[in-house]
Amino acid sequence: MAWQRQHGRHGLPWQQTTDAYRIWVSEIMLQQTQVAAVIPFYQRFLQRFPEVAVLAAAPVDDVLAHWSGLGYYARARNLQRAAQMVMTAHGGQFPVSRAVLETLPGIGRSTAAAIAAFAAGERTAILDGNVKRVFARCFAVEGYPGDAPVLARLWALADSLLPVSGAGADAREDMRAYTQGLMDLGSGVCLRGRPLCSACPLASGCLALRDGLTAALPSRKPAKVKPERSATLWLLRRGGEVLLERRPERGIWGGLWSLPEPAPNGLSLAEAPVRSFELRHVFTHFILNMTVQQVVLPEAPASPKAAPQGAPAVAADSRHLQWHGLEPALQLGLPAPVRLVLEQVLAEYAAGTVAGR
Ligand code: ADE
Repeated sequence: MAWQRQHGRHGLPWQQTTDAYRIWVSEIMLQQTQVAAVIPFYQRFLQRFPEVAVLAAAPVDDVLAHWSGLGYYARARNLQRAAQMVMTAHGGQFPVSRAVLETLPGIGRSTAAAIAAFAAGERTAILDGNVKRVFARCFAVEGYPGDAPVLARLWALADSLLPVSGAGADAREDMRAYTQGLMDLGSGVCLRGRPLCSACPLASGCLALRDGLTAALPSRKPAKVKPERSATLWLLRRGGEVLLERRPERGIWGGLWSLPEPAPNGLSLAEAPVRSFELRHVFTHFILNMTVQQVVLPEAPASPKAAPQGAPAVAADSRHLQWHGLEPALQLGLPAPVRLVLEQVLAEYAAGTVAGR
């Protein structure tokens, strides 16, 4: 509170009032929009809709027009619905208690608490995204704040940390300074990327700062488990050559040269030794488990003229299949796992360790 009074923000338009209606409008605008962007919209909005009755009675298009540029228009629709509920269910008197505010559309627990604290000095805790970061760092709360147990822990902390300053006007002023102070710390000091710990009034007690965890806390959202797919790829070799297939332009590895999948027509497996191995490749949206079947075909006939360059030893059907020398193949556009396979095959071939296999 002392830090907020000395170093916090004081001149914001919604700090010049205890009118719950005006504070509510500011808090809704500030939910997804930065302070500097909100200020001109806030002032225009309140000129047009100076009190809740005016907002409730206005054409919805007029409300949306005054919201135009702020984005997230569900906020504006909820705002008007809430104004209409205040007129019908609360006699036009804008509520100031957190419990009642929470029943209005568009007002969650933290927003309700902020309005109640600013408008009436109610002793109730906020916990918006910025404040979660402050608490997660200060108390080294591990785990993603979107997970219910982590969130419950943060709320319990928020509730336990409220100032204990009795009742009366001073206590209400304390709640305002305390609530605004948390917001000011979260948006101006305890920054996500580069917290300004040397300017932080909580630095001496901050566990994340002490333990070097400010970059790790709050914990990030855990990555989703990716779906897995499987495929069989054919590694067809013939002397120092390998049969590759240019993939269609659309789809994964579009336009790259890959191992044929499925086996080309005309391949006679009976005569060819096969070994197989597994490969795993992680894409952005899924994991591909590949079984690579290696087949070594008999060398092309002695005279190179008998088998024209590039002609497949197996029927190519309508696919884009082509024999490539192992070394030149590595100059082609290849998917990363295929490149690894070919590098391995080339190394084995050069070392003579896979003669015929
Ligand atoms: N963000 C949300 N509420 C705020 C407020 N009252 N002041 C500054 N930033 C805020």
